Amino acid sequence: MQTKWLTIFIISGLITIVNTKRACIFNSTACEKGWVQFERSCYQFLNKAVILKEAVNYCNRVGAHLLEIKSSQEEKWVDLQLKIRGFQYVWIGLTDILKENDFVFISTGGKPTFSNWGKNEPNNAGKTEHCVEKLAGSRWNDRSCDVKFPFVCERNSE
Ligand code: BGC
Ligand code: CA
Repeated sequence: MQTKWLTIFIISGLITIVNTKRACIFNSTACEKGWVQFERSCYQFLNKAVILKEAVNYCNRVGAHLLEIKSSQEEKWVDLQLKIRGFQYVWIGLTDILKENDFVFISTGGKPTFSNWGKNEPNNAGKTEHCVEKLAGSRWNDRSCDVKFPFVCERNSE
């Protein structure tokens, strides 16, 4: 009789563990309200045009960094989000402000392995372009850090 109750106890415990795990996988709460998830990141789309340093500071204040596009799959998803929200341009988190034509992530200083520059870009037009805009549905262009664009913050979802 005791063995029977012990067996029921153990099995119900196991069912609870399995169901909790299932809830974690299917009702993912990885991104907070106002943020959307793609793969292992949460993104916030800010439709307010600001100069680069204001975008960087805003993202940092909310525990994130400016959008870093690391694959064509990610860029395709970002393009969908920009299109549905009616964004035309956004800042991305790259700069060559320390060394001309040596673009690094603003968040880490590391070198990107993926890029999607437009034709003849980056061209450092007027020798004043050390930040990077992405055109919605299209490619990247180096721009002056003092022009104003909407932006996207990104942070890890895990
Ligand atoms: C050029 C870009 C440049 C931009 C600046 C465009 O016509 O193709 O390279 O960044 O002008 O306004
Ligand atoms: Ca340019």
